Amino acid sequence: MSAPVALRKLSDQTVFRKGDVFVLFGELFGRGYANGLVNEARAAGMTLIGMTVGRREADGSLRRLNEEELATAEANLGGRIINVPMMAGFDLDAPAGTPTVTAMANEMGLKTWQEDKLDWAQVEACRALGVARFKAAVSEAMSQLEGMIPAGANVFFAHTMAGGLIKAKVFLAIANRIYKGRGERFMSSRALIESDLGKLNLMNFDEVTANTFQYLIDGSEAIRAKVETAGQSVRYTAYGYHGTEILIGGEYHWQTYTNYTQGYAKKRLEDIARAAWDKGVKATVFNCPEIRTNSSDIFVGVELSLVPLLNALKREGCSAWGEAQWAACQALLQDGHSLDAVLAQLDAYNQDPVMVGFRNFDAWPMDNTPELADRMIGTAESITALHRDGKALITDHLSALVIEATGPLMFNEAAQPSAPVLWLSHDVIAKQLAKLHA
Ligand SMILES: NC(=O)c1ccc[n+]([C@@H]2O[C@H](COP(=O)([O-])OP(=O)(O)OC[C@H]3O[C@@H](n4cnc5c(N)ncnc54)[C@H](O)[C@@H]3O)[C@@H](O)[C@H]2O)c1
Repeated sequence: MSAPVALRKLSDQTVFRKGDVFVLFGELFGRGYANGLVNEARAAGMTLIGMTVGRREADGSLRRLNEEELATAEANLGGRIINVPMMAGFDLDAPAGTPTVTAMANEMGLKTWQEDKLDWAQVEACRALGVARFKAAVSEAMSQLEGMIPAGANVFFAHTMAGGLIKAKVFLAIANRIYKGRGERFMSSRALIESDLGKLNLMNFDEVTANTFQYLIDGSEAIRAKVETAGQSVRYTAYGYHGTEILIGGEYHWQTYTNYTQGYAKKRLEDIARAAWDKGVKATVFNCPEIRTNSSDIFVGVELSLVPLLNALKREGCSAWGEAQWAACQALLQDGHSLDAVLAQLDAYNQDPVMVGFRNFDAWPMDNTPELADRMIGTAESITALHRDGKALITDHLSALVIEATGPLMFNEAAQPSAPVLWLSHDVIAKQLAKLHA
């Protein structure tokens, strides 16, 4: 049986310093994971450079940011943005006069989608076009970037791209049921991935979530050669997800959100890092804990594994600061409900035989079942209902702490990475927080 390769110790940062260059490959959102790394790079005095996915016109065409959008994005990052639209995936690309895959998916019916077939030759034509467009954008962005890297600088590339849901009406309705439905509204994730519609989505996830890391590594080859020839270093990081070890019954156990349909793409992302590593490129995928962000909010229940981080804060010596986090979380609950009771409920949920059945690392990503959806979505809804304000959740508070911890964990480890794929679990997250707030 294989097992996650966990980062257990806090590393020291030995490479990056003032004047080095930090490149964010993806856009920066307020609640996103990338904030952790960006904050570290800023604190180290690095020059921040960002990318953009561009914006879509009403007719679906992709354009650069206008002046106002560019100024907002640059202010948000605190650095220059290379204004080349880097939208990944092929959902809205098609040879002139032919339908996009989104238009093709829109022809499918809510009752017939499991049998509806796609024209795979047309899908392939769209995919080839989308990939060529993205690679050309990377090439243009990298040539601009090359001119922005001062002699003698080290370069840190942080990949953050993930996504690729085909935004067709029928699929959005299905996704709502797979990720949020239980009881009568339950829908099987296996049924989806065995359909043409599901296969199309998996292909687009691969493009956005995984292959973009390869295109970044390939597209920055000339920069890497130049920087390394000058005696400096280039590093690549990406955010993975492949389950997390959390405290269950007083011990750390690996567990996962199910069904994580994007998991196939995340495994591919890991393989890309391993292959690059074998060629001497220091690329590391950091598999990170479940948190609530713009991208993860669709997965109801993904946040449940975050709450036991509070126990890890105690276990790993967060002392007075840790107690303040408990108090802050307790204050988010309505009167008459205790954090201890919520944690006890989640511990029982995590030891429920149905949930234990999904703790199978080798079988990941497993399909959902009605029993799983019932417990997970039911538990998520019942815990959310205990809060004073549905928009100020314990998991919002804890998500910010996880982002804060992943910043130094990834930034420091990436300087001298020990492996191409590393898991950041609740133990090391809590240890890092203890150090930051000692
Ligand atoms: N939220 C979680 O629980 C969690 C857990 C582990 C790993 N991650 C990973 O962390 C990374 C950042 O995600 P986040 O959860 O912070 O959310 P986020 O919404 O802040 O970030 C998503 C990123 O993907 C980019 N993106 C989305 N669609 C794109 C497209 N079509 N083309 C190019 N770029 C696109 C966005 O620009 C943004 O940079 C992702 O790789 C995600 O899978 C998230």
